[in-house]
Amino acid sequence: MRGYVINHYAHPKDLTLSLHLPDPIPGPGEVLVDIYSAALNFFDILQSQGKYQTQPPFPFVLGMELAGKIADNSPIPEGCPFKPGQRVFGSAQGSYADRVCANWVALAPLPANMTFDQGAGIHITWPTSYEALVGRAGLKAGEWVLVTAAAGGVGIPAVQLAKILGANVIAAAGSQAKLDICKKYGGADYCVDYTKKDWQKEVLKITGGKGVDVVYDPVGLIADCLKCIAWKGRALVIGFAAGKIEKLPLNLVLLKNISIVGLHWGAYYKKEPGHISSVFNALFDLFSSERVKPVIYTEVFPLEELPKGLVALERRETWGKVILHVKDEHNHDGAKL
Ligand SMILES: NC(=O)c1ccc[n+]([C@@H]2O[C@H](COP(=O)([O-])OP(=O)(O)OC[C@H]3O[C@@H](n4cnc5c(N)ncnc54)[C@H](OP(=O)(O)O)[C@@H]3O)[C@@H](O)[C@H]2O)c1
Repeated sequence: MRGYVINHYAHPKDLTLSLHLPDPIPGPGEVLVDIYSAALNFFDILQSQGKYQTQPPFPFVLGMELAGKIADNSPIPEGCPFKPGQRVFGSAQGSYADRVCANWVALAPLPANMTFDQGAGIHITWPTSYEALVGRAGLKAGEWVLVTAAAGGVGIPAVQLAKILGANVIAAAGSQAKLDICKKYGGADYCVDYTKKDWQKEVLKITGGKGVDVVYDPVGLIADCLKCIAWKGRALVIGFAAGKIEKLPLNLVLLKNISIVGLHWGAYYKKEPGHISSVFNALFDLFSSERVKPVIYTEVFPLEELPKGLVALERRETWGKVILHVKDEHNHDGAKL
């Protein structure tokens, strides 16, 4: 099979595709998945350079998010609900390849109305945004929400979900082109360019001086956002895409009676596994009724062009989920037809 093997750390631009790797062998609790599409994440860029918090031992195959089918020759572990040939999406280390071994618990059935390209990037971003807004912030209809990096992987689902929950949504992003995406694909009510000085004043003006009830921040801009948060607001700490773990003066928390709320979706698999299916079931209802829809970046990269896709992601040129098209459904070996 083909795949991007890491046996020494390198910048993603220097990755090369190996063409003749042996198929991986499933361990206990694992199934073998034929991958058709995979999704790019910023942490893949860190992992290829040895800078991520989770570094598998050499050699390892890069990539985490995928959509594909349970392979015909896959073992089916006890309790696993999937059958060979079933369409699934999920997470497993090694998704930038034709096949991967996945713990079946980290897979879910691909919604019938989704292509592999659409489904490859929903396993992390959508439950993150749903649990943050619903489970952690308790967002209510009529409230104001500010989403930073709103055109990004977790940002667009946050905008769409906040809208269907009945909130008034202000999308903040770094360019007019990205703000247009937030309107077109997210349904944002208002857009603010957060590279402009004093952008928070615009947010205050939009909310009639009150400020936003909920901040959803994957960038590391909580301190900046607190300048336009409402009394008793909730600020969701989602990530640090700007590259620095933010430190906060706690007097700001006290003065406005606000809550700083963390959310780490991956930790639910250890800490609260029973809650995961309720989040996915809520999302499946929304996907099947098409009230929300995955948004993928215009350029879908073929497997051979992974380095180009990762470099575009690193340069902040992309929006939505960046997808790697591994092979067409009728082309099992990834060979050129
Ligand atoms: N808490 C959780 O459970 C959880 C789950 C998933 C992801 N995350 C985290 O959420 C963050 C965003 O993930 P994502 O999938 O949305 O990423 P993404 O699609 O790559 O979007 C990140 C966006 O952040 C903005 N940004 C601002 N400053 C940046 C900088 N210095 N470098 C790069 N980007 C910068 C950019 O948008 P603009 O150009 O508009 O500024 C960029 O497009 C990551 O830190 C990720 O680890 C957390």
